[in-house]
Amino acid sequence: MMLKSKLEKAINKQINAELWSAYLYLSMSAYFESINLGGFAHWMKVQAQEELSHAMKFYDHVIERRGRVSVAAITAPPISWKSPLNAFEEAFKHEQKVTGMIDELANIAVAEKDHATANMLQWFVNEQVEEESSADHIVQKLNQIGTNTGGLFMLDHELGQRKKG
Ligand SMILES: [Fe+2]
Ligand SMILES: [Fe+2]
Repeated sequence: MMLKSKLEKAINKQINAELWSAYLYLSMSAYFESINLGGFAHWMKVQAQEELSHAMKFYDHVIERRGRVSVAAITAPPISWKSPLNAFEEAFKHEQKVTGMIDELANIAVAEKDHATANMLQWFVNEQVEEESSADHIVQKLNQIGTNTGGLFMLDHELGQRKKG
């Protein structure tokens, strides 16, 4: 069954959104480098790569279903934040927004009776639970740390251990 055009359009929008997410986290990575928090920067760089892989999952799905991928311009994300806490609060907010987009895609897939796409989207539904939780976890830690520099460096060390993929 070929991909229906309504779904094709919505997935193309999601490919752009995932690429924007990658761009956002790459920008956050550069911000953390600029304030000498290499572990935070590493975490964000790995996150950016994950978002690229999300875009590719959608890309491959469209191609496999004989749909047409149409790439569009990626808008510029912010380039700096007030603090590490502010950056992670924004990351968490962004992931909540993406969860809403994935849920909406799943609604369209069900309405269009496209079970293959609905099934593919379940992976993303689960992934978003993890994405929100890991960003929220770091927000909470940063809140506990407050202005304690030692705590910030310890968290920086911990985030620097994040494995790729
Ligand atoms: Fe994503
Ligand atoms: Fe994400």
